[in-house]
Amino acid sequence: MSAKTIKEEGSHARPEGERKDVLLDHNYDGIQEYDNPLPGWWSAIFWLAILFSPFYAVYFHAAKGRLVADEYQSDAAAVAKVRAEEALKNPVDDEGLRTLAKDKASMSGAATVFATKCAQCHAAQGQGQIGPNLTDNYWIHGGKPIAIYKTINEGGRPGTGMKAWGKELDPTTVRQLAAYVTTLVGTNPPNPKAPEGELEE
Ligand code: HEC
Repeated sequence: MSAKTIKEEGSHARPEGERKDVLLDHNYDGIQEYDNPLPGWWSAIFWLAILFSPFYAVYFHAAKGRLVADEYQSDAAAVAKVRAEEALKNPVDDEGLRTLAKDKASMSGAATVFATKCAQCHAAQGQGQIGPNLTDNYWIHGGKPIAIYKTINEGGRPGTGMKAWGKELDPTTVRQLAAYVTTLVGTNPPNPKAPEGELEE
């Protein structure tokens, strides 16, 4: 059957009354099938989608187009940054430190400070060396974010080598370090120092 005949006989573009359905020859247990053409609008969308796809693929996967997942990531990072900035304006508390811990930019900054100022005693991944292990759930001075902050800000027991970092580092950095330490908990790095202090969940 030529395309023309199909159009003549079964076109959906015709008004209801004039439409003739084309029945195929075969018959399966009484089930028969029409051979009507696809509606024009449907075929148009189909072919346009195919024409569009190479441009889409090249733009989003090879050129500068950003995938939805990437956009989500950077939007989420922007939100985390704004929340972290707000948290820094409020008095220090557990909630604010947890918010800060979610901001990747703050945490990578804190990781750099940790590597230069803290790692010599607490080891590179916080697993402990001269200073206690910061990745387990045992704490000498308390494991709540605010308690960790207090230890870093005001120091450990006299003579232990754990300084009052609040005297040396700016307040934002001290908060970021406290938030960073909370992200180390539960990371299970190799060669951990034996637990010290009390178990806290
Ligand atoms: C000179 C070695 C040394 C350096 C450097 C050091 N610490 Fe400590 N840190 C210690 C010691 C020792 C303790 C245990 C203090 C105590 O027993 O009172 C400690 C305790 C802590 C605690 C409390 C742990 C607990 O179990 O309650 C935290 C949190 C901590 N340090 C974070 C830091 C951070 C963050 C830095 C970097 C800014 C840092 N420390 C730098 C030696 C150090």
